[in-house]
Order: sequence, then C-alpha cells, then structure tokens
Amino acid sequence: MQSHRVSLVAGLGLAVLLLSGCATAAPGSTHRPAASASSSAAPSSAPSPTPTPPPPSFNKSALSIDDPNSIWVVVNKLRPLRPANYAPAVVLPSEPHIAQPASSSMRPEAAAALQQMFAAGAAAGAGAMQIQNAYRSYAVQVNTHNSQVARLGQAKADILSARPGYSEHQTGLAVDVAALPSKCDIEACFGQTPQGVWLAANAYRFGFVLRYPADKQAVTGYVFEPWHFRYVGIPLATEMHNTGVTTLEEFFGLPAAPNYAP
Ligand code: DAL
Ligand code: ZN
Repeated sequence: MQSHRVSLVAGLGLAVLLLSGCATAAPGSTHRPAASASSSAAPSSAPSPTPTPPPPSFNKSALSIDDPNSIWVVVNKLRPLRPANYAPAVVLPSEPHIAQPASSSMRPEAAAALQQMFAAGAAAGAGAMQIQNAYRSYAVQVNTHNSQVARLGQAKADILSARPGYSEHQTGLAVDVAALPSKCDIEACFGQTPQGVWLAANAYRFGFVLRYPADKQAVTGYVFEPWHFRYVGIPLATEMHNTGVTTLEEFFGLPAAPNYAP
C-alpha cells in the first residue's frame, strides 16, 4: 500500500513535468529537455552554459543612402543631392529660440527630435540652445557659399561651406545649434560650451550625429563643426555611437570625400 502511494505520486509528478514542459514550448520551437532530465541522464557532467544568441545585426541596407527623402541619405563632396534642386517639405520647429526663422525649418521628424533634444539638454543642466540655421534651399546655399568664397577665397571656403547642391542643410535634416546666451556661435569653441559638450555626448539618443568630427576632415571634407548635427534617426545614431564609428562615410563603407570631383 505504502509503495503503491509513492509510485502513484511519482507518476503524477512525472505527468505534470511532461505536461508543463509541453505547454511552455511554443509551436514550432525546438524543445530543449528540462535541466532536471538532462542532469539525471548524466549526473557527473557539469551543466553546459546556455548559449547566448548573437544580437541581431544592424541592417545597413534598411534605408536608402542615395534618396534625398531618406533620413540616411549621405551627402558629401562626392555625393551631391539628386536632383540638385531637391526641396523637402519642412516645418518651422515650435522651438522658442530661433536665430533666423527664414533658414531654420526642418523636416518634421527632425524638428520633433530637435525639440526633445533641446528640452532634455536644458533639463540636464546643459543650458538653453537655439537653432542658428537648419534648412537652406539650393538658392540660399548659393548666397551662403558665395559669401564665404568672397571672404576667404575658394579653397578656405570649401572646407567650411558646401557648394550649392552638396549641402546637408538642403536635406532639411541638418541643424546648426548655438548656445544661449550666445557663446562661440559657429566656432570650434562651441565644442567646449556646456551645450556643445552635452550635445556631443547625447545627440545620438535623439537620432542626431555630430557630422563633422574634429579628426575627420580627410573623410568628410570639412573642418570640425561641433555645432552641426545631422538627423539620421535613433537606430542609426545609436549604432554609430555603440560601434564608435563617427562618420557616415566610414559606417556605410563609402569613399572618403575630402575634395570635389575634378
Ligand atoms: N557647413 C556645412 C559643411 C555646409 O555648408 O553644409
Ligand atoms: Zn551646418
């Protein structure tokens, strides 16, 4: 009688174990034996560690880098906008601090991200920021670039200012940020302001990348611009941050673009 009760309890336990094992296996999934079953089959061997599946790899082809409507479009001295007179739909961000409203609009997704970034920077104690410049049409870039050429000559202008049809500002995804109160506007020392330091460390969380890093003129064609941020979306900005790749050219395996094609 006693041994009968024990075997009945053991039998019920086994049934519960098997049923619960079946119930947790998803349809079509590979069923792994429970740990207790494998340890009883090979009691002397140490349990093998559960293999960690590799993280899903980032799909670098998910969006176009050629289409100017894509937030991943790569524009540089070898990759002009096509068509050259491309003009996106843009909105003026409802950001209260805008230096030049005529050239401060952005693509809606970039404008929304910028507003969140400015608010987060202020909340983190980095200080107030303003849009110095954002969307510049082909025609506006003609004036911007020509004034730099008149001031500095073609060679010096070319490492600071894109020629018309070659500027990220024409995508509606780029923004020049300034500190408030004004300090080091469009100057390298912006990188040392609290705003510049905070942006360099945090912009990726809002989908922006610092597009012209200090040590990458040979790749991007432009000197350090700690104020110029380019919206690419959070997944790409985060992937670049996590992998330590600082230029779009290097990330996508594109040729360096220090100069225009002859
Ligand atoms: N300053 C950047 C390179 C532009 O003009 O687009
Ligand atoms: Zn800029």
